[in-house]
Amino acid sequence: MTVKVAVLGLGSVGKGVLEMIARKDLDIIVTGVADSKSGLIDPSGLDIDAVLTAKKTGRCGDTSISANEVVSRADYDVLVEVTPTDAGSGEPAHSYMKMAIERGKHIVTSNKGPISLHLKELKDLANEKGVLVRYEATVGGAIPIMHTLGNGLAGNKFVALYGVLNGTCNYILTRMAAEGLTYDQALAEARELGYAEADPTYDVKGIDAAIKLVILANTIWNNGASLDRVDITGIDRLTNDALRLAEEKDCTIRLIAEAFPERGVLRVSPRIIRKDHPLVFEGTLNAITLETDMAGEITLIGKGAGSIETASAIIGDILFISSHVRCN
Ligand SMILES: NC(=O)c1ccc[n+]([C@@H]2O[C@H](COP(=O)([O-])OP(=O)(O)OC[C@H]3O[C@@H](n4cnc5c(N)ncnc54)[C@H](OP(=O)(O)O)[C@@H]3O)[C@@H](O)[C@H]2O)c1
Repeated sequence: MTVKVAVLGLGSVGKGVLEMIARKDLDIIVTGVADSKSGLIDPSGLDIDAVLTAKKTGRCGDTSISANEVVSRADYDVLVEVTPTDAGSGEPAHSYMKMAIERGKHIVTSNKGPISLHLKELKDLANEKGVLVRYEATVGGAIPIMHTLGNGLAGNKFVALYGVLNGTCNYILTRMAAEGLTYDQALAEARELGYAEADPTYDVKGIDAAIKLVILANTIWNNGASLDRVDITGIDRLTNDALRLAEEKDCTIRLIAEAFPERGVLRVSPRIIRKDHPLVFEGTLNAITLETDMAGEITLIGKGAGSIETASAIIGDILFISSHVRCN
């Protein structure tokens, strides 16, 4: 069955999603798009190549059509919300999502802000309206962690989780250990290669990893986790001496996010770990280890960001909805 989607945000992720829909035979049509300044609506399906070509010049469409209008007026089954993250308020994405759910539309998002702040509210509203909120792309990029939690490992008790949830920090730590670069040199290199933002504060201070930890904790344990309850230490004060000391014990240092619900632990911090541990790997990958009662310990590893990699998670969620729920 063909599923109709409206896409809000045509940056790296939004364009990746459109490209994959255009290039693959997925039975998905795009009936609305919007960026920060313009929008397009076509109930019979937009010409995706034309949208992507128009976006190269700045705007994707008509300045008289806002993102709000696309959400409230377009004919779609699934709202794909891929606008920038505001970790403080979750806006405007939070309002877009609520408006779409009120209209009986499903939500697929990569936006960590509203999901870390308002997951329960959004899920409750979605339950009431008989629709789904899916957010695979908010944690671990292409890694199918949410599908694994909700499907593959359904029925398991999750005792603990720990993971490397920020590729920028992993890259910096890898380079400091391998080449003896200082933190500042490794950060400069990460910036040059496009692995770090111009303002890397959220990444290097551990906040990005903590937001993802909150999303995972609330998904698994529904325990009202919030950012202010995470004990956070970043990597920005890490010295080469600390890495050298770890090296002497055949260990290294990684920024680890961890949750032990029975002990009330939610923590992000640089940890000394043995080099043969599954969470020690090089570069910008992400990984998550789950401790379960039936399946034992399971580690998922993969690309934590990127246009097409994140689109993979978004497309997976759209197709999950179209195969599990009736779309009109
Ligand atoms: N990039 C990744 O690898 C990745 C991975 C996982 C999750 N994420 C998350 O996915 C989301 C999108 O990331 P991105 O890298 O694609 O961001 P991006 O490149 O900055 O693109 C954001 C897009 O959203 C549009 N936008 C901004 N404000 C808007 C508004 N109020 N209404 C409608 N559209 C608006 C922008 O419009 P203009 O084009 O007009 O500026 C732009 O097209 C973020 O929440 C990010 O944290 C990204």
